[in-house]
Amino acid sequence: MDDIYPVSAAAAAGTRCDAATYAAMHGQALADPDTFWRGQVDRLQWVRKPRVMGNWRWDPVNIRWFEDGVLNVSVNCLDRWAAADPERLAIIWEADDPAVPNRRLSYGELLGETCRMANALADMGVRRGDRVTITMPMIPEAAVAMLACARLGAVHSVVFGGFSPEAIAGRIADADSRFVVTADAGMRGGKVVPLKAHVDAALAIEPRVAAVLVVRHSGAEVAMVPGRDRWWHEVRGGVAKVSPPEPMGAEDPLFILYTSGSTGKPKGVLHTQAGYLLWANLTFETVFDYRAGELFWCTADVGWVTGHSYIVYGPLSAGATVLMFEGVPTWPEVDRFWAVVAKHKVNIFYTAPTALRSLMREGEAPVERHDLSSLRLLGTVGEPINPEAWRWYHRVVGKGRLPIVDTWWQTETGGAMMTPLPGAHPAKPGAAGFPFFGVAPALVDADGRFIEGNDVSGNLVLTASWPGQARTVYGDHQRFVETYFTAYHGLYFTGDGARRDADGQWWITGRVDDVINVSGHRLGTAEVESALVGHAAVAEAAVVGFPHDIKGQGIYAYVTLKAGVEGSDALVADLRAEVRRSIGPIASPDHIHLTPALPKTRSGKIMRRILRKIAENEHGSLGDVSTLADPAVVEALVAGRLNR
Ligand code: WT7
Repeated sequence: MDDIYPVSAAAAAGTRCDAATYAAMHGQALADPDTFWRGQVDRLQWVRKPRVMGNWRWDPVNIRWFEDGVLNVSVNCLDRWAAADPERLAIIWEADDPAVPNRRLSYGELLGETCRMANALADMGVRRGDRVTITMPMIPEAAVAMLACARLGAVHSVVFGGFSPEAIAGRIADADSRFVVTADAGMRGGKVVPLKAHVDAALAIEPRVAAVLVVRHSGAEVAMVPGRDRWWHEVRGGVAKVSPPEPMGAEDPLFILYTSGSTGKPKGVLHTQAGYLLWANLTFETVFDYRAGELFWCTADVGWVTGHSYIVYGPLSAGATVLMFEGVPTWPEVDRFWAVVAKHKVNIFYTAPTALRSLMREGEAPVERHDLSSLRLLGTVGEPINPEAWRWYHRVVGKGRLPIVDTWWQTETGGAMMTPLPGAHPAKPGAAGFPFFGVAPALVDADGRFIEGNDVSGNLVLTASWPGQARTVYGDHQRFVETYFTAYHGLYFTGDGARRDADGQWWITGRVDDVINVSGHRLGTAEVESALVGHAAVAEAAVVGFPHDIKGQGIYAYVTLKAGVEGSDALVADLRAEVRRSIGPIASPDHIHLTPALPKTRSGKIMRRILRKIAENEHGSLGDVSTLADPAVVEALVAGRLNR
């Protein structure tokens, strides 16, 4: 029997969505999407209200929602709240260093800052449709830069601050972006992240960038290139704090966000204006059951989709107050998250399983030291949560009384897709609950046949579009079609495996493609392999994931060296450095296993299944090895395995 946590009386009281409402809304959204969405469009403020709701097909792939609508996303996130109540708090900022004063930006101030930055970007030459690369620390100006792009109708591409210059350059080139917004440096756990220096190095590789706007934050010394770089604090005073919002078509692009897949370099997932915003808004209010005046804290970085949807677009379009935190969970002390919750009286807390596992290791005392009585709801996202971590979160952080929403979604889905709703669904530790309104999950077998009934597992597909769905891969629609709509014709393939249990609850079992999830960061094994093969000493590389207590998955790399190259600890360190240089520290392999050969079939295909088993330390059950060209290779790999 599964452990079940029923909806509590407290969670049910005043909820936006109880079980009956869920049943009605979910049912209508699938049976009569037109009527359902017509009932939701007034969540947004339109220049021209749409008459057409969904207009999509997946063969050929052409996805449009609210296509005749016109709006401006920044107006929806700022002007309408600033007009009603300019003093309402939009962002409370907590620095990396707890001694640094907080910043508090009202909706009126955030609107003024956004308009100023929109004017500064326009002075730099940014026009509607231009791509602007943003690589920023977790400071309010990150949100300001995104919203300033939205105001102008420019398309932002936020690049996580942990990526290497080479990775930044690749994204600038792919988006053909001629503008960058960055900061001198970010601060994380007391350490300086030299963002401007990274941008400079990226632009040495990729010189198409005409102008760089630099926010002064850490005070670090940086080089400024005359004619290209300008300081935000210098231009800020000279630009108007009003800026006319560009009226945008619902299907005009809003942003590009790069994410890894099973093949090749990261893809620029493209989201458009209205459907994305409506999905972020509706899921934010419903999933977190947000109540006016509450403080919402999502611990993700704005460089990932979670930060886009649940720090910026979802909460701000709902007029909510968000906490934005620059630092890390464990600095200066392991109780930092709980200290911040208590200091600001956070009501809703949304974080990743990997963070919970690392905090769990520190025991209960760091949590108990703080008054967490402001908390009303907890959430998790990014990877499957192991039931032990769920129970710890529930018991120690939630004092056994708070609902937990385990939200399954992806960069490509724009917002939450499956979750228990706090006022409607009993929760099971480790389960992602039920589909949100308009979400139609299904399970298929390897041949694409639907798996019916309950208590079954398979590959997770979605059978109908939803407004938050990504529309294409920037500059490569064919890749979009091949990645998501080709494995199972006419269906969207998520890349995840899942189980529908006896009660119809959904459990995500993890990726079934060559994507790994390391501390909630999504990486393609092919990407890490190509970084390793970029090293002059490497002949071949094969990368697989393995279960890791804290990170969820770790990275295990098998490497063969070119003839005549001698393996050594120094070379292994050098290979690790090469991956950091090419992608960033998040992709650094846990294990690099030098081997004279990789296990291959007689036709020369690397047998990854075997490599995975060895990396998982499950070499006792290698399965069928009869197609191996040389069984001795496997024996040597098992003998030399690094994850014991
Ligand atoms: C992949 C998407 C969603 C924003 C953060 C990650 C995994 C995500 C869950 C969850 C089990 C989850 C899936 C998915 N994933 N949330 N609650 N339970 N798995 O976005 O980087 O696009 O990664 O993360 O494998 O496909 P992303």
